[in-house]
Amino acid sequence: MQRGCGVRALDILKTGRWTAYIAAAGLALHAPAAYADTVVVTAGHMVDTLNGTVTDNPVVTVTDGRIVSVSSGTAPETGPETGDDVRRVDLPGMTIMPGLIDMHVHLTGLAEIGGYRTFQYTDAFWTVAGVANARATVEAGFTTVRNLGSSDYADVALKQGIERGLVPGPRIVPATYAIGVTGGHCDNNFLPPSYDAKSEALAEGKAALRARVREHRKYGAEVIKICATGGVFSKGTTVGEQQMTVDEIRDVVEIAHILGMKVAAHAHGNDGIKAAIRGGVDTIEHASYLDDEAIRMAKEAGVAFSMDIYNTEYTLAEGEKNGVLEESLAKERQVGGIQRESFRKAVKAGANVVFGSDAAIFPHGLNARQLPVMVRFGMTPVQALQAATSEAARALGRENDVGAIAVGRYGDIIAVQGNPTQDVSIMTNVRFVMKGGEVVKNAR
Ligand code: ARG
Repeated sequence: MQRGCGVRALDILKTGRWTAYIAAAGLALHAPAAYADTVVVTAGHMVDTLNGTVTDNPVVTVTDGRIVSVSSGTAPETGPETGDDVRRVDLPGMTIMPGLIDMHVHLTGLAEIGGYRTFQYTDAFWTVAGVANARATVEAGFTTVRNLGSSDYADVALKQGIERGLVPGPRIVPATYAIGVTGGHCDNNFLPPSYDAKSEALAEGKAALRARVREHRKYGAEVIKICATGGVFSKGTTVGEQQMTVDEIRDVVEIAHILGMKVAAHAHGNDGIKAAIRGGVDTIEHASYLDDEAIRMAKEAGVAFSMDIYNTEYTLAEGEKNGVLEESLAKERQVGGIQRESFRKAVKAGANVVFGSDAAIFPHGLNARQLPVMVRFGMTPVQALQAATSEAARALGRENDVGAIAVGRYGDIIAVQGNPTQDVSIMTNVRFVMKGGEVVKNAR
């Protein structure tokens, strides 16, 4: 993060030579200077997620979607007389911070339609739901999400629609289908054998697993999701059971990594978590049953835990009404409390714990409700905010793009009223959202 360059920025602004300044700074060299689109954002305060501090009077300049300067002090004068296309967004008294990152969502799922009720809707309905959910997500301040499993390549479709500007939504890192084994958490176990219902992404054995990863990449995957253990919402699985061998996991990881993709493993049980770490995955999703050895292994291997510790509340309060199977409710009662204690243990041990909510288990747009729960179970507010910004960006391998208000990253900036490093619950009330320099929400 650049500091103390406010004066320089101001001088240059006064000359009206924005584009010259930007070019001189070696930034935005691709765009012809004459057409550069610049927006200057000022606010009362800024959460610097890289340093874990709050600074005053930030001035952030975004050109062609990327941040080109971050300074503090008096906001520069801009106006038509400068001759350049400079927009201004002033957020007096508000606190800005980088757009939030959720490492685990399912944009094409709806919490309100659970269990067998999903069969009342046609296949493409879920893509339509995804359009609404994408808007709710970005308006809640989440400008980047990893979509860890959807059917019909609907997450790729959503990403394409958002990037073309057809519909609003976050930057999506799509996994396409979650890869799983027969009868496992990512299979469809809801119907009797005569229906022959199964997930399209079942793969067992070396050749099938490797082919599956390549196929997902071919059709737009940017991350690979595997189901290494049973789960809460799948029928006929237990959360503790390991469902993939270390060798199977290794096959997936080897191909994913040579293709430049990270691997996220759904894993609740301790054996499955350890198998996934041994197999070389990059993040463990849920990570409910963590013993000390699993935490140590993850730290040594640089594996991040992405733990969805808000949704227990929602499922236990609303699940039955939404049609969630009694079997799943029972599993939630069993696993929720244990997962939260594992979270506490992992944070205390200094493991890398990032923000992953599993939105779709609860309604999209409520993602930030997990932040106060993360603080309740052992993080400081700053740690929780970093888990959803700079640390998430690191786990994504996207430190050049997202997760901080810093030169070179996207102009993904959100604002709240108040100081979230003191009271992180105010993140559930994001008033302003900018994505890539474009204002997505302005509800001040
Ligand atoms: N998708 C996960 C599963 O079905 C959700 C688990 C939710 N519960 C929890 N305590 N994290 O297993």
